[in-house]
Amino acid sequence: MTIKTEIISIDSIKPQPERISKAAKFVRNGGIVVFPTETVYGIGANAFDETSCKKIFEIKGRPADNPLIVHVCSLEEASKIAHIEDKYFKKIKKIWPSPITFIAQAKAELPKSVTAGLDTVAIRMPAHPVALSLIKEARQPIAAPSANPSQKPTATTGSQCIKYFDGRVDCIIDSGSSFFGIESTIIDLRTFTLLRPGPFTPKEIENAFSMVPLVGKIASGKASAGQKVISPGTKYRHYAPETPLFMFEGAENKLTKIVESIEVPFAIIGSSEICSIADRIGCSTISMGSRKDPYNIAKNLYSSVILLDSLKVKFGIVEAFEEQGVGLAIMNRLRKASANKAFSTKRELLKLMQILNSG
Ligand code: TXA
Ligand code: MG
Repeated sequence: MTIKTEIISIDSIKPQPERISKAAKFVRNGGIVVFPTETVYGIGANAFDETSCKKIFEIKGRPADNPLIVHVCSLEEASKIAHIEDKYFKKIKKIWPSPITFIAQAKAELPKSVTAGLDTVAIRMPAHPVALSLIKEARQPIAAPSANPSQKPTATTGSQCIKYFDGRVDCIIDSGSSFFGIESTIIDLRTFTLLRPGPFTPKEIENAFSMVPLVGKIASGKASAGQKVISPGTKYRHYAPETPLFMFEGAENKLTKIVESIEVPFAIIGSSEICSIADRIGCSTISMGSRKDPYNIAKNLYSSVILLDSLKVKFGIVEAFEEQGVGLAIMNRLRKASANKAFSTKRELLKLMQILNSG
């Protein structure tokens, strides 16, 4: 069913109050609103409205056991929803708003769809003027997963949200590009474990809390489906383009030798450094920017993966990055986008291509 979607363009730094007001009215009236955050766009509804929150799952095609993040505009509001231990309160106060989500014991009676029936809840205060004004003006916390149909790459621009959701939601706020381009870092406060790496890096967490977060296999994107899952979303295939994607984990100077005799059309996604080498032998390339600026790589990650599909090639090759700082989050997303299919030699690549042909 198609519905009329109101598209509202709002300045990302100085949101126009009357436009925020219009969008917030949709939230108060039980509508679904796609809105920008500093990380990625979200598809949101009043977190206390079960019917509206359920609609988000339908629109995204999201499994019901995958809970939503509740977005708040203050720590005080968050502590009405979740038990935040005193030892963490002041520290979170110092760092919020920022691209970090906390899992804590749920306090308020939240709809089942928001928590997926768990006794914990994910809370986050986004560092984006539009998101914060929207939550304030809606006078309700907003439950929102990332703005993408389940398993598709996340939308990081207003125009990608329009492509995904025009005619399916009540309102889309277009504020241009998200600032970071990848989803928030998630920390489980009960065990101080990093569940999902994001723009807020392990080192920054350590500095803010004077505690070293536990980083498990799940955080690197290497966990397999059978493993015990703390964050339900981490077990699903994610962020994937239509075009099969393989990760190149070998030495940079070997890549041209490996791909030069491949006859089927393919494209390389990577840093400007690797792309300029591949350009010389006539490969199709999608540059995410210099590897000297990993935040820029992160910002361009999803749009590059989306662009791959428009090239109509048989497969994509993506460069592996150093798993340091924000690089940990980049690799987590890229491993998922490539369904953990990696190669470092020609033989391994040919094997992956063979599986592709036989499948
Ligand atoms: O940056 C972000 O976090 C974006 C923007 C819109 O805020 N949101 C986002 O939401 O990425 P989503 O739904 O795509 O990812 C939320 C993740 C999922 O993996 C989900 O399983 C996990 O958070 N999660 C939510 N509630 C949880 C809980 N109570 N316990 C463990 N994991 C939880
Ligand atoms: Mg998501």
